[in-house]
Amino acid sequence: MQEEPQAPGPAHAGPGRTRQSLVYRAGVLGSRPTVPTDFAELERRAQAEMSPRAWAYVAGAAGEGTTARANRVAFERHRIVPRMLPGRVSRDLSVELLGRRLPAPVLLAPVGAAGLVRRDSDTAIGAAAAELGLPYILSNQGCSPMEDVAAAMASGPRWFQLYWSTDEPLVDSLLARAEASGAEAVVVTLDTTMLGWRPQDLNLGSLPFSQGIGIAQYTSDPRFQEIVAERVAAKAAGNGGSDDVKVTLGALRSLLSISREHPGDLRTNLRSPVPRAAVETFLDIYSNPGLTWDRLATLRDRTSLPFLVKGVLHPDDAARAVEIGASGIVVSNHGGRQVDGAIASLDALPAVRSAVGPDLPVVLDSGVRTGSDVVKALALGADAVAIGRPYVYGLALAGRDGVRDVLANIVAELDLTMACPASARWPSSVRSCWRRHRDGPAGSDHRPAGAAPAVGDESDLLVELDGDPAVMAHLTGRATPAEEAIEVWLPQRTDPAHDALGLGYWSAYEGDEFVGWLCLTPTADGEAELGYRLRQRAWGRGLASEGAARLVQHGFETVRLQRIWAETMAVNARSRAVLERIGLRHARTRCASGPTPCPAPSSARWS
Ligand SMILES: Cc1cc2nc3c(=O)[nH]c(=O)nc-3n(C[C@H](O)[C@H](O)[C@H](O)COP(=O)(O)O)c2cc1C
Repeated sequence: MQEEPQAPGPAHAGPGRTRQSLVYRAGVLGSRPTVPTDFAELERRAQAEMSPRAWAYVAGAAGEGTTARANRVAFERHRIVPRMLPGRVSRDLSVELLGRRLPAPVLLAPVGAAGLVRRDSDTAIGAAAAELGLPYILSNQGCSPMEDVAAAMASGPRWFQLYWSTDEPLVDSLLARAEASGAEAVVVTLDTTMLGWRPQDLNLGSLPFSQGIGIAQYTSDPRFQEIVAERVAAKAAGNGGSDDVKVTLGALRSLLSISREHPGDLRTNLRSPVPRAAVETFLDIYSNPGLTWDRLATLRDRTSLPFLVKGVLHPDDAARAVEIGASGIVVSNHGGRQVDGAIASLDALPAVRSAVGPDLPVVLDSGVRTGSDVVKALALGADAVAIGRPYVYGLALAGRDGVRDVLANIVAELDLTMACPASARWPSSVRSCWRRHRDGPAGSDHRPAGAAPAVGDESDLLVELDGDPAVMAHLTGRATPAEEAIEVWLPQRTDPAHDALGLGYWSAYEGDEFVGWLCLTPTADGEAELGYRLRQRAWGRGLASEGAARLVQHGFETVRLQRIWAETMAVNARSRAVLERIGLRHARTRCASGPTPCPAPSSARWS
């Protein structure tokens, strides 16, 4: 019988092997995990446990669901190139975020109205997060007052997510409570100043908040209570509009739900106008569609906590957030729940990272389902990820333990995945480790140059490359002066619009050595121009053909381009040979007059 490889001692096991052992040992005794270890089965089983309304709210997405799907497609498109025999028994998954060291780069995203799934949802989620030492971002639309969740979490790390209300004193009150209850940061969600178009909920006529579910941060707030009291008084004085409600079974159910969710005794609540007034007040003021960057900037003077902005997808918005003093960015499309047809969060990440530089904390959420997804997000520039729906499904299946198991499974898989990319620490070493490969577009060094802070590091190398007259002989016929390279050419390499399409520039490395770059530049819809430039010492070894062939494959298979074309000078025999070798067909030769002493270029095209 063949022997299994020797298991390392428990001290070296790491979260991956520890979790596997736990599951397999229990399996020997005949039990199976309550929470499935893959997302598809987790989702399927959770749906069976949840009411149709809860399922619609949690799993639902905006419009036709294309953004939610794009999130997953983006993760699937990026592939890992594992490295072998790193010779390390354990890995350090810990990262430092906003001054606190976390055991793994994983947070629990803010999820409102989780009480639809289970009562006491937020305290259960908080306790599970604290058990794992992972930060829980408490939702402004939570189902327990933040003080209760804080008590359930003891010293576990927590942040508070804020929806900016139209009532400014309420904003101040929520900020003060967050600070007093031990939140370490505030996350302001920018993408939901209005609720997205969500057909799953709309088709059921179901909004949790109108049932009183998800408004506990408000009903427990002194400023909010004041506004509600004013509303009730105005109504009593006859100034608050008509109170006519048709008595139907649905209306009675809603009244019961609202009264049950409201703080205090159910019987008293059923007779009181306050719970209903609280729901109406919430719907009126919970979010401010008129919020501006200038208003957001007032946060700096209103809390001593660092603040992050959530829902950023465009690099200019990220830059703006930095300008107004944000301490971090959450790249997110709200799990595809707000704008249908939006860019996948993962696809937006590289450009955001480029815009904010290497040091600002960037968290990515939307579509993260596995440990392998976490590796990809970190390799593309995130410092950590936030998880949404998966832990809610764990909650549906097994309450607090279910939340813990879902997250522990993701961290376990992350640990095992990290064993292959051959990096003991991260995130920086994961990035550099991936940069060193020379064998595949996505997920390795052949990624768009804007994809990671490496671009900045490469400026000198790029200037040197363009400064070599031999390299430029068949391009401009002259060495490019350093200033021109820096001012004119380098900025063109980091066009976020190109990155977002899956096109742009890729750096090529051989071992640790930079050998040049390749690019696919969009020239029309479904069409891109192939280009490359290699250092002299990389010539004649098949590197251009190898890289260009992979890029062509990437362009057709991943980006789904219809046509890729390239142009080279007629006398550039080496390049013509490369283009022929990778399958481009010579289309035509044209004569061009220009300032350079070079012979006329020829162009080769292939569709
Ligand atoms: C049921 C549900 C409720 C949510 N509530 C909030 C919320 O109150 N505040 C917020 O900023 N984001 C909210 N989000 C968005 C999440 O914070 C996060 O961006 C998203 O779930 C990540 O995508 P994923 O579910 O694919 O992991 C909610 C998401 C879900 C699924």
